[in-house]
Amino acid sequence: MKALVLAGGNGTRLRPFTYSLPKQLVPVANKPILVHCLENIRDIGVSEVGIIVGDQAAQIRAVVGDGSRYGIKVTYIPQAAPLGLAHCVGIARDFLGDDDFVMYLGDNMLVGGMAEAAADFVARRPAAKILVTQVTDPTQYGVAEVDADGVVTALVEKPAQPRSNLAVIGVYFFTPAIHAAVARIKPSRRGELEITDAISDLAAHGGTVTAEEYRGYWKDTGTVADLLDCNRLLLDGVQGLHAGYVDTASTVTGEVIIEPGARVVRSTLTGPIVVAADSVIEDSCLGPHTAVGRNCRVTNAGVQDSILLEGAHVSGVTGINGSLIGRWATVGSAGPAPLHRLLVGDHTQLEVAVA
Ligand code: TTP
Repeated sequence: MKALVLAGGNGTRLRPFTYSLPKQLVPVANKPILVHCLENIRDIGVSEVGIIVGDQAAQIRAVVGDGSRYGIKVTYIPQAAPLGLAHCVGIARDFLGDDDFVMYLGDNMLVGGMAEAAADFVARRPAAKILVTQVTDPTQYGVAEVDADGVVTALVEKPAQPRSNLAVIGVYFFTPAIHAAVARIKPSRRGELEITDAISDLAAHGGTVTAEEYRGYWKDTGTVADLLDCNRLLLDGVQGLHAGYVDTASTVTGEVIIEPGARVVRSTLTGPIVVAADSVIEDSCLGPHTAVGRNCRVTNAGVQDSILLEGAHVSGVTGINGSLIGRWATVGSAGPAPLHRLLVGDHTQLEVAVA
């Protein structure tokens, strides 16, 4: 079996971050989502991985390289424009050959991997197998109708009147039968070749499509709220390790990872927290549920339930909560209330507390 990872796309819902960073490289618990995904693929024993890349291919190549550091062999497949998930299968045709493959959306997090599902696909080998999960608002998802034997009887993209609460999640197992279906479908109203259309077409031509309910934690990290949710969950699983410097005036409680070269001075840290290498936390309150990337500075500040990307600098501001702070971004104090001074880029979202 091979793997096809989708790491192109527009990432419009994660602007402004995605203007300069592919969304698959946003870190959760200080590790890019894409790396979590490649590790899950390696863990089911698949080593040949094609990665679909768009405009921001260079950054993805810089992080993943040839894949050897994750125990896999990567082939990059450029996509000229995000023309849909089924389009990705089409342009990967040469790479995939006549092998079975797992297609994995590079912005999806499946905590706990997908070993059982992969083993079941290999054992039974239906034409395609999808993973589904119960959601409260199916209108936002691709929705599967599934019979008592686990066979998919209908797949509908974002239905207005959902007939099931089973959302399709971003990992699919395919036999090469999917290629004929991809070749038969036409672009949808939004101009994309939809994978749900290809799977429906496959079923219409006699292919068996099965669904399995995913029992682990799954998240499509397409929005900031989803990223923070995922960050909280992964941080809840970390085990504390103080490899950096913590002075005697600081208090550290709960599970806190302080990487080598990081410094914690006169601060209160309440885990779970990860502070990456070479960051400095001074005279601040940090956590819980906070991931601080490399080379950050947090000074005279209070930050909880947040992700700081590499090089972020927060000083003189308390009460930072539920925030994602971009690479080398600065958040500072304008002096005593009530005046705020804001330099706000395109598509940025600020929420300022009011008294
Ligand atoms: P989406 O999240 O559905 O699409 P998007 O990246 O365009 O995001 P937004 O809706 O915020 O604009 O894509 C799911 C995954 O598939 C994601 O990792 C991007 C990737 N993708 C491609 O590689 N090529 C494509 O043509 C599309 C549509 C998505």
